[in-house]
Amino acid sequence: MMDQQTVDTIKRLMEWEAARDRPPEGFPSLPDMPAGRYTSQEYYDLEQQHIWKKSWLFAAHLDEVPEPGSFMQWDNAGQPLIIVHGMDGVVRAFYNTCRHRGAPVVTQQSGRAPRLMCGYHNWTYKTDGELVGVPESQDFGSSFDKSCRSLIGVRCEMFGKLIFVNLDEHAMSLREWMGPLWDEWEEFGFDRVRLAARQSFDLKCNWKVAMEANMEVYHVPFIHPDTVAPLVDHKRNVNTMFPGGHARMIAPAPKDTNRAHVRAIDNPPEWQSIETVGELGRTTTQSYTMFPNWVSPLSNFFIPPLIFWPTSLNTTRLELITMALDWGDGPVPDLWTVPDGMGGRAMSPIILEDTQFGEAIQKSMESDGFKSVPLSYQEARIYSFHQTCDKMIGLDRVPPHLAVKQVIGQEWVWPSDPRVAQMEQQVEAA
Ligand code: FES
Ligand SMILES: [Fe+2]
Repeated sequence: MMDQQTVDTIKRLMEWEAARDRPPEGFPSLPDMPAGRYTSQEYYDLEQQHIWKKSWLFAAHLDEVPEPGSFMQWDNAGQPLIIVHGMDGVVRAFYNTCRHRGAPVVTQQSGRAPRLMCGYHNWTYKTDGELVGVPESQDFGSSFDKSCRSLIGVRCEMFGKLIFVNLDEHAMSLREWMGPLWDEWEEFGFDRVRLAARQSFDLKCNWKVAMEANMEVYHVPFIHPDTVAPLVDHKRNVNTMFPGGHARMIAPAPKDTNRAHVRAIDNPPEWQSIETVGELGRTTTQSYTMFPNWVSPLSNFFIPPLIFWPTSLNTTRLELITMALDWGDGPVPDLWTVPDGMGGRAMSPIILEDTQFGEAIQKSMESDGFKSVPLSYQEARIYSFHQTCDKMIGLDRVPPHLAVKQVIGQEWVWPSDPRVAQMEQQVEAA
């Protein structure tokens, strides 16, 4: 929950950001980021090994495995996993790999069963992973010990009804990973929302190209003049960088914006409001990146994350998700997709605006004409995200021609914020 003093400070910072005529005093100028971060197999392989295998990743909503015995396959992290709601009520994740000869234990996309049985030779596991049934087990000899052949588990922890996994058994807890987001997100009702929509789309660009379109507001007046621009005053946006590569942006609507237009896009009145959401969540665009691949505006109506999964160096799976309080018999909320006219769903106009250039950008980046990326202060969230990518990989592992310099220091990372003192000094001087 954000306290009133923080709310007031952010509101004053909005006006201060809009009024400044240069970046804040002491903010580092951001060195160019090397092109190869988007185009080299070398950097992609480092990401796979050290980011995707060590980060907490959003896997599912509890509604997808709602009851004891419910299970689902999940392979967005590049490894075939199953998420299992145990008969004991605990949600766990396992590799979907039989401990006998490696067949998948589960072949249905999702289902419900009190035991998981591999179809090849009917080895049977409890929902906590324990191997309990081996046909003709006497033929494995007297030294065969079933208790050493449980399904291999993967770290699995929950935030409200959201299920996260981490392939690194030594990872810090999800709570530690989320840091200040853990408390700041309390007001948004993660423990009460239902899963309303989850669609995925394949994009032909590097996952960071796709994701970075959602990590700055510099593009808003140009790409989204009629959709996002009336909701988001990019000049009055306040970015905050959190430890661990997470970040927050809070942008009010432009002062002259047409409220009817805003409501039509943003505040559909028929959906239940999450009453605990504070002033900024109700009146501004309050959006977060959670490292490495979650971007979501949070409001008193929706938790609608966009999740980006690399499927190769130059392809990405984009998941568009809407979670909301119970919608009863009303229309099912789906913020990001629309009917495609053929019985399926298509990306909404806003998402199309953000993704339309992905393939062309990737092609252009792969040409010899693409050398490096200069970023402005408004795009610092992207730079800070890249700093974290390199830190996750290990600064000594990133070849110098692919590395970003670690120029944004701790003093610019929450809870520290030199802008506040600069703002107060100017108020005093005035
Ligand atoms: S491979 Fe699963 S029972 Fe043989
Ligand atoms: Fe956008």
